[in-house]
Parts: sequence; C-alpha cells; structure tokens
Amino acid sequence: MSTPTARYLVPFHPKQLRHFFTDVLIVGGGLAGLRAALAVDEKLSVLVVTKDTLQESNSAYAQGGIAAVLAEDDRFEDHVADTLAAGGSLCDVEVVEQVIREAPERIRELVDWGAKFDRLGNQLALGREGAHGRQRIAHAMGDATGKEVIRTVIGQIEKAPNVDIWENTFTIDLLTCEGTCRGAILWNRRHGRTMVWAKQTILATGGAGQLYRETTNPDVATGDGMAIAYRAGAELRDTEFMQFHPTVLYIAGSSRNLISEATRGEGARLIDRYGHRFMADYDPRGELAPRDVVSLAIVRQMEKTKHPNVYLDMTHLDAAKVLARFPSIAAVCAEFDLDITRDRIPVRPGAHYMMGGVTVDTAGRTTLPGLWAAGEVTSSGLHGANRLASNSLSEAMVYGVRAGHGASLAAAEQHDCFHALPLENERIDSPSEPLNLADIRNSLASLMWRSAGVRRDAEGLGEAAENIDRWRRYVLGRQFSDPTGWELQNMLCVARLMISAALLREETRGAHVRTDFPEADDAYWNRHTTFARDV
Ligand code: SIN
Repeated sequence: MSTPTARYLVPFHPKQLRHFFTDVLIVGGGLAGLRAALAVDEKLSVLVVTKDTLQESNSAYAQGGIAAVLAEDDRFEDHVADTLAAGGSLCDVEVVEQVIREAPERIRELVDWGAKFDRLGNQLALGREGAHGRQRIAHAMGDATGKEVIRTVIGQIEKAPNVDIWENTFTIDLLTCEGTCRGAILWNRRHGRTMVWAKQTILATGGAGQLYRETTNPDVATGDGMAIAYRAGAELRDTEFMQFHPTVLYIAGSSRNLISEATRGEGARLIDRYGHRFMADYDPRGELAPRDVVSLAIVRQMEKTKHPNVYLDMTHLDAAKVLARFPSIAAVCAEFDLDITRDRIPVRPGAHYMMGGVTVDTAGRTTLPGLWAAGEVTSSGLHGANRLASNSLSEAMVYGVRAGHGASLAAAEQHDCFHALPLENERIDSPSEPLNLADIRNSLASLMWRSAGVRRDAEGLGEAAENIDRWRRYVLGRQFSDPTGWELQNMLCVARLMISAALLREETRGAHVRTDFPEADDAYWNRHTTFARDV
C-alpha cells in the first residue's frame, strides 16, 4: 500500500485530557461485547463503550437465529461437517468443534436468563437454513432473534454491579506502549477526548458491511475495530472474505432490509422476472445451497434476464404460518405496499458478514499483548471462506465468554499498572480545503460494490486500489475532530486491506469469487492471507 497509515488519528497529550481507569475495557456493545462483560470476574471493573446505543449492534438485527445441536436426533459431527463443507477448507477444525459443542450450553444459558425462544410444545422450535443438513436453528419472535437475545443479555448487564456502559462513545484508537495494549482514546460529546487506561482490552466492534453500497448491516458497521487493531499492530487475517447474503430487499427508497434465509428454510422459492425457479439450474441443493452459491446464482440470473433483482416467492405457502413465522419481514414489506403472502418480494445480494478480521487464538487472544477480541471483528477460524448460516451468534457468545474470561484472569494478575503513560501524538497541519466526506464515503461504497462485490477480477480490484490510494492520500493526511472523519479513515483503511487480500488470492474460494481465476487452487491457496502493520 502506497500511503503509510498514521499510528494515531488524532493529536493528544496526557496533560490536556481527562483520564479514566478500568480493569477491563470492552469496545463494542453487541452480543460478543456484552457476553464478554458478563464473563469478567465481578470483583473487577468493566467499562463497555459503544459508538451508538446498545440496541444498534449488528447482533440486534439477526433474524434467522442461532444454529446449535438441540434436537435429540441431531449430532455435533453433522453440524461440524456442515460448517466445514460451507467454509471452503479454511475453517480451523479445532475451533469449529469447540464452538459447536459449546453452542447449546450458551443457548440454554440465554433461556435461563429469560430469553423467549419460539417453541413447539415444550421443545424449542427449530428452523432450517442454507447448507444445514437438518433443522437446527433456534429462533425468537419468528424472525427477531437478535432483538430478543440482546434484550436478554442487556437485562443481565443491568444487574452486573461492576459493569459501566458508555453509549454514543467513539473509540478513536487503541493506546499502545512497548508493544502492549494499554486501553484506548475515546470521544463523546459530553467529555470530548478521554484516555481510558485498561489492564486488558477486548474488541467486539462487529463488521464492515457499510463499506458496500448494498448491505444488510446498520450504519454503525464501518470496520472501526479492524482499523484500530491494524493501526495498533495486531494481525488481521482473510480480509478478502466478505459474505454476501443472497436475499436483501431491493426496493428503491427502502433501506436494504435482510429477508432471512429462514424463509427458504420454510419453503420460499427464488424466481426470476419471468417466474422461472432458477436455483436448480445452478446447484442441486436449490434454494438451500450455501450462501456463496446462491448469491452467485442470483447475480448470474439477474444478468441473464437483464433485470436488477430476482424475487423471493412465498405465495404458495400457508399464509397464516408465513405471517406468524416472519412478522418483522411482513411489516417491513407492508410499508412498501407488499403483502408477502400474495406478492413476490424483490431481492438481490448484499454485503452481510465479514469473515476475515483480527486474528484470535482459541482463547480470544489477538497477536497484540493486552488485546482480546470476539465476534464479527475477528477471524477465529470458525467460518473459513464462507460462514454457515446462523453460526455467528453462537460464535459471538462462545468467544465473548472466552475473551471475557481470559481478559479477567490476566487483569486480576496485574497489580501495578493503574497509571497514565506518557503517550502523545502531535498535531499536524491539515490542508485548509474542506472535504466532502459523505461524497467520498458514497464513492467508496459504490466502488467496493462494483470492484470487490460478489465477483471480482484483477482489473476491477486494481482500479479500486488506485482510487482508494488516491483518497487515502488526502483523507488520511488530516486530523479530524469528530466521528464522521474517523469513520471514513477507518473505512479507507479496511477497504484497502480487503482489496489487497482479494488481489493476492488468485483463485476462487467460498465468498471470494475471482472471475479471472474461477477454480480453487488447493495446492497454493489452501491458506490464510495476513496483514500486520510495522509499529
Ligand atoms: C438470516 O436470517 O438469513 C441471517 C442469518 C445469518 O446471517 O446467520
């Protein structure tokens, strides 16, 4: 990459800023971050910071559910095999086995805390999603699983006397000294910039879907955690692997709402503009093929039929059941004059889940001492090149517990580091010409969608690299004073890492489809891409 990345985005001097001390700092208030907070020993102080409110994480938007071996006749081996098959040989088998074996316990814990999962009699009702060999997806309120899970975990957090929450607080950078993470520099409207000194820090900031014009992710998913970890020197892995969800509502003027894969699990069909049910033309598993296969098939069918979308059709299903199972989807579609029991729903793929991220070991430890991570911000080895549907909430909980527990033990052993360190960063002269940041952000999202979307090739990726490098030269050379600028700087950092990895990987694997290298190259590429900045 031709533009060096500054170590810190803002100028600071410890004598001019407010200081705050905590045993464990958790950056990110989604499921992984909150679950990590609950795993820290109650004798230790925990500060959770989130750039929006606790309700605005990606986790809260999860519709489909949580995949786990919950039925008596299901087997861990089968869930493991489905996860590995979807992951395109890049999963870490040990991680897959551990997460899948622990997932049922994490779900039972949610039930004990009051989560109201949907039931059939006295059993959990289990749905089906793509590439699962059987029904194993626990869900809540039909299609609002994330909301219910987050509601439940917030209820537990409110009872935890040692956990403080700062909402609407942006984490600008991690503070590092002598190769160890010591906390972070944060900003909120109330206090301005604050140096938070922490014995141990956990990153749980979620994904980066906002880098793409078409995405299911909320506005907060701008890749901040990956960018701040990279600037601090932690290793990032497999950044070329962004998962595209096949069915995102495509109506001019609507936000790109997810239309859950669980709809296809209940029998919804994908048809093109002429009513042709096309999935069998691409894969014998039809609508329940893995996500990478379905997304690619949809893009090809859109091209073939010269139409900007395909349609999800549930009109042949029992209307009362459809409305009971998918109330949120029905409500969103109704706002656009669509009755999901009578009308076909216009859909196309959109960026959904970042499989690459900050490298963590099986304890949730990153390569930077003092820094742990959990959830979508990480590359743990669970998802490989293509995540199996509904495995992410399980990962968030399992790794939340691990990172929280690991950070807790490490912090408890540190007795001598509750003091500010003489870290500072100088002010630089920023050019006076104002920048239209929204314009650059929109251009970046369009460029990423065009060049690093469902399909990529060297020419498009090269064009993206050139453009991003040009934007980086004049955006990263400035010091901004509010989140709009910092977010854009983070997005440009992560986008460039995604493009670099996508250019390097000259093969097709999972969600990374190179039209100029259409086959998998197992002899050379059955391995990870990694990046770490010299600090
Ligand atoms: C969905 O409901 O289709 C999304 C679930 C997931 O991404 O795992």
